[in-house]
Amino acid sequence: MNKPLTILGLESSCDDTAAAVLRHIEGEPAEILSSVVAGQTELHAAYGGVVPEIAARAHAEKLDICVEQALIQANLTLAQIDAIAVTAGPGLIGGVLSGVMCAKGLAAGAGKPLIGVNHLAGHALTPRLTDDLRFPYLMLLVSGGHCQFLLVRGAQDFTRLGGTIDDAPGEAFDKTARLLGLPQPGGPSVEAEAARGDESRFKFPRPLLNRPGCDMSFSGLKTALLRARDQIVDEKGGITVQDRTDLCAGFQAAVRDVLAEKSRRAIEEYLTLSPADPVLAVAGGVAANSAIRAKLETICAETGTRFVAPPLSLCTDNAAMIAWAGVELYRAGQTSGMDLAARPRWPLDKTSPAMLGSGKKGAKA
Ligand code: KG4
Ligand code: ZN
Repeated sequence: MNKPLTILGLESSCDDTAAAVLRHIEGEPAEILSSVVAGQTELHAAYGGVVPEIAARAHAEKLDICVEQALIQANLTLAQIDAIAVTAGPGLIGGVLSGVMCAKGLAAGAGKPLIGVNHLAGHALTPRLTDDLRFPYLMLLVSGGHCQFLLVRGAQDFTRLGGTIDDAPGEAFDKTARLLGLPQPGGPSVEAEAARGDESRFKFPRPLLNRPGCDMSFSGLKTALLRARDQIVDEKGGITVQDRTDLCAGFQAAVRDVLAEKSRRAIEEYLTLSPADPVLAVAGGVAANSAIRAKLETICAETGTRFVAPPLSLCTDNAAMIAWAGVELYRAGQTSGMDLAARPRWPLDKTSPAMLGSGKKGAKA
């Protein structure tokens, strides 16, 4: 029988401190023995976005507690771990540094190999952990910090087909909620309002649809929403509940349509590879939106592509995905040295130009 590989994963690139233990035997499904996530939402709530210094301090305080909990829940000691995988970028540098330093300390102290993992690779490889996907598959990463289409040909072979040139859609949902006085995180509250609204009342732009390719833009949408809101306030002295639900419905429809059309184009490009089992996999908090999801499912059905969405707890930031990427790298002999660097930017695709903009959740790539 193959020897099981047990990996401890650490994640601290944004506003979630996480540790997880994963066990894998080649040819069998991996087992998540524990996955601990300590969020920081309340620490940043008053500031309208993640404050990097507050995030870094919280990571430094929470990392060893999360590691301890992950080991206890897995019923293992550090000595029983085969290797330590850690997010080494991209992300908010203070948080990434905290994780990398913690992992180096654990690896040096316990005499274990260290594996530096790209956070985006963690997201992009998750459907292999949950659904045992074969290469090549198409990935749409869509969250508060990321928005890109990735062609995943191998555990270290990614091609970015396009992505946002400014805000990520989750950021746009969060800003919309703020502009309309709805609670954070904005995605679920805007979605709940939108379900009761009329999406045809406000005609919001569908940016970059007239341009070829899969790049997207969402920052203009929030400006359009702000203008529409202000115009109602000028005319009527305030906005009604109906105005708000209609604004949310119009906004959500615009995001949905952009993601859908760009997904159609990305799928078209992907299908030129003639994959045996064509798959579009999604990850990120925005993939939880049922209107967006339904439209993506329709497009997949129309193009003969299977739609795969891992459970939400593994779609949003977590350390099990880092441990899994660690398994893939370890098996490929890709361990890191003690000179492993923390990187604020780290594009997965070395051939594409770096993404512009760096949003409230740090660098996009
Ligand atoms: O993947 P995630 O948990 O964290 C990172 O961004 O790293 O994604 C969070 C984002 C937030 O911006 C949140 O507003 C958005 O995902 N989100 C949604 C929904 N649920 C969460 N956006 C639209 N509709 C939703 N139902
Ligand atoms: Zn992420």
